[in-house]
Amino acid sequence: MPVTEVRPEHCEALLQFFRALPEGDLTFIEEEVTDPDVVRSWARGEGGGSRWVAVSEESGGPVVTGYVAVRPLPGWSDHVGRLRLVVSPAARGSGLGRDLARHALVQAVSAGLTKIVVEVVAEQGAALALFTGLGFRGEAVLVDHVRDRSGDLRDLMVLAHHVGDTWAGMSAVGLDDALDGDPA
Ligand SMILES: CC(C)(COP(=O)(O)OP(=O)(O)OC[C@H]1O[C@@H](n2cnc3c(N)ncnc32)[C@H](O)[C@@H]1OP(=O)(O)O)[C@@H](O)C(=O)NCCC(=O)NCCS
Repeated sequence: MPVTEVRPEHCEALLQFFRALPEGDLTFIEEEVTDPDVVRSWARGEGGGSRWVAVSEESGGPVVTGYVAVRPLPGWSDHVGRLRLVVSPAARGSGLGRDLARHALVQAVSAGLTKIVVEVVAEQGAALALFTGLGFRGEAVLVDHVRDRSGDLRDLMVLAHHVGDTWAGMSAVGLDDALDGDPA
């Protein structure tokens, strides 16, 4: 499925995508993503960072099935990008999450970020497998850092991809080819 930068023609479909997500999945994204003004501002290049969507063209218009963003941290950590990824529940398990994460990682590295971090709830097996497969490694565990939908406390893992350290191993996950050939 094509992965493309968020453009004005995607805004309505992207809003629908966010509004249809289970509430728990929205907590992975720090912005007010169900607010039309917020989503439209992204298409104007506002809001900081870069954002991409997986879009399929259906008879009723574009349908968004996945979203990924990388936003640089402020100030003295502006060489670090924080990645957020979510795939619609119906589209999970077919490789879309990996494609989106890989695309965002390649673009972030091309843009000069030297460390990419992602926060994953400790029990999220799919997310852990996906990111470790792309060269991310556990860097910190924040104990009892998030409350799940039932109010129970969960640990949050910070996974990091250090570009300098891991670049040599990137051929293993195909990122070097992607850097040469990725147009978006
Ligand atoms: C994490 C998430 C993005 C994965 O999306 P996805 O499209 O299902 O991921 P993929 O199909 O690319 O799977 C990647 C790997 O995850 C693992 N995986 C996928 N589904 C899994 C499942 N149900 N259980 C365990 N592992 C699973 C597999 O190792 C898979 O690799 P494989 O295809 O070689 O077997 C999706 O579950 C999601 O949106 N979750 C909620 C938000 C979130 O947790 N975001 C991550 C932190 S920002």
